[in-house]
Amino acid sequence: MTKKVRKAVIPAAGLGTRFLPATKALAKEMLPIVDKPTLQFIFEEALRSGIEDILVVTNKSKRSIEDHFDSNFELEHNLREKGKDDLLKLVDDATAIRLHFIRQSYPKGLGDAVLQAKAFVGNEPFVVMLGDDLMDITDESVKPITRQLIEDYEATHASTIAVMPVPHEEVSSYGVIAPHGEGVNGLYSVETFVEKPKPEDAPSDLAIIGRYLLTPEIFDILENQEPGAGNEIQLTDAIDTLNKTQRVFAREFTGKRYDVGDKFGFMKTSIDYALTHPQVKDDVKDYIIELAQQLQDAE
Ligand code: G1P
Repeated sequence: MTKKVRKAVIPAAGLGTRFLPATKALAKEMLPIVDKPTLQFIFEEALRSGIEDILVVTNKSKRSIEDHFDSNFELEHNLREKGKDDLLKLVDDATAIRLHFIRQSYPKGLGDAVLQAKAFVGNEPFVVMLGDDLMDITDESVKPITRQLIEDYEATHASTIAVMPVPHEEVSSYGVIAPHGEGVNGLYSVETFVEKPKPEDAPSDLAIIGRYLLTPEIFDILENQEPGAGNEIQLTDAIDTLNKTQRVFAREFTGKRYDVGDKFGFMKTSIDYALTHPQVKDDVKDYIIELAQQLQDAE
């Protein structure tokens, strides 16, 4: 019988060194895209996908995450008194899901971060959502990729990993799949999963993009997983082992992905999102046109 997918794990224990000094005291997951922390986009995707419980794997410098998703009585009281219901709703939205936290005591890699979720997940299928990858954030009418993975699981009863084509020279930043033949309606059987291959060794340009639907058997594998690329315990390596005992599929994502773990990616995300934000979109658009004109004139 298919078990309902109810739980999500969000690894958020990275040190955020790429965004120093901004991340010295603030968790990188709290950096805002215009006015919303990146992690809140992930929560909203989880909510829209039917997830009921989220476990965030943090470390000791991530208190700001726990505070953000807690209720803030003083702020809510103040907004209510002033009749600022629209703002009150925005503050309330952050707390609309059941949230759990656990700490990874030592940064041993993504595989180890996911292993911290073993007791929380129990014997159920679950999703892993990486905070550096935001999908389709400018259009809420699109079916979230996490929802798609859950529907794939309901049809196949198997683990399914989201992938998308990336430029060949960039494959070494990703986990990459060797697909087995052509995909059927965007769903691929997979021969192997390889973490961060050199471009010349990569079996394809289909890269893992931070959304995973996993069966709980992954935990026994992770418990014995040796360090891999970068001397870290890699989730991709454990998935490759899982694929040898039960099928693991890859689902091709065809929407728009934003890499907010990268500085330029973060800026592009901010601009695209600002162009859809009711309060600032017109001003931002005018500014971009004006700026483009100035840059062109200066050439
Ligand atoms: C992680 C995974 C990698 C995946 C990537 C997607 O890498 O290990 O397989 O392709 O996320 O963003 P990281 O970006 O943490 O180095």
